[in-house]
Amino acid sequence: MADPIVTRELAKIYREGKIEVTALESIDVVLQEGEVVGLFGPSGSGKTTLLSILGCILRPTSGSISIYGNEVANLGEDQLPGIRKRFISFIFQGFNLFPALTAYENVMLGLKMKGIAGQDADRRAQAMMTEVGLADRMHFLPRDLSGGQRQRVAVARALAADSPIILADEPTGNLDYDNGRKVMELLKEMATAQRRCVVVATHDNRIEDLFDRVLYMEDGSIRQEKRGSA
Ligand SMILES: Nc1ncnc2c1ncn2[C@@H]1O[C@H](COP(=O)(O)OP(=O)(O)OP(=O)(O)O)[C@@H](O)[C@H]1O
Ligand SMILES: [Mg+2]
Repeated sequence: MADPIVTRELAKIYREGKIEVTALESIDVVLQEGEVVGLFGPSGSGKTTLLSILGCILRPTSGSISIYGNEVANLGEDQLPGIRKRFISFIFQGFNLFPALTAYENVMLGLKMKGIAGQDADRRAQAMMTEVGLADRMHFLPRDLSGGQRQRVAVARALAADSPIILADEPTGNLDYDNGRKVMELLKEMATAQRRCVVVATHDNRIEDLFDRVLYMEDGSIRQEKRGSA
């Protein structure tokens, strides 16, 4: 079977009026099933841009990207949601929780967007909320949760749907050391046991040892790659 994600000479140039920003330059990566890959690099090096293209949220300026063998760079805007729904779950840097919905309802909505509803969704949502340590906070609104708890709701929402590809932008950014590692260990467990492909953009050097592979970005390129001992 094809690898979860393969890119060839992926590039992204943002155009703001007359100013052009080259955010990505010729990225070639192969991301495999069952691996947890860290995307490190200074602010502005292109981590979020790359993650957004891998997640089919943003289109590259040039180059190709294939998701399980489906070439997506040339697909129409209307076909991208279908690819995302089938293959990808995203954990956003700013959580993207709906403020008027409880933690549980946020997870249920994420499942609904993946076509999972009813008792199956309820069972998964409850199990995942318990898994991230929020069984007793299920019916709280986001505003009544701490930053770290909100982050864990976002993680639960992404994991509940069983997507084979999980992309996370700074998922431990708002968490203390112990909770950050817990979230990472959960992602790792999922990747290993269920052969998912997990890519995490982060500044957090404290969790570097938890990755199978680390890609270091600088000025829109991958400058270095290291296989972890994890
Ligand atoms: N929508 C946009 N329009 C124009 N330029 C953008 C846009 N988004 C990002 N950029 C630029 O592209 C470059 C890469 O940004 P990106 O957000 O991918 O970096 P990052 O590595 O995620 O940084 P951080 O660690 O601060 O989150 C930066 O120079 C940024 O200013
Ligand atoms: Mg970023």
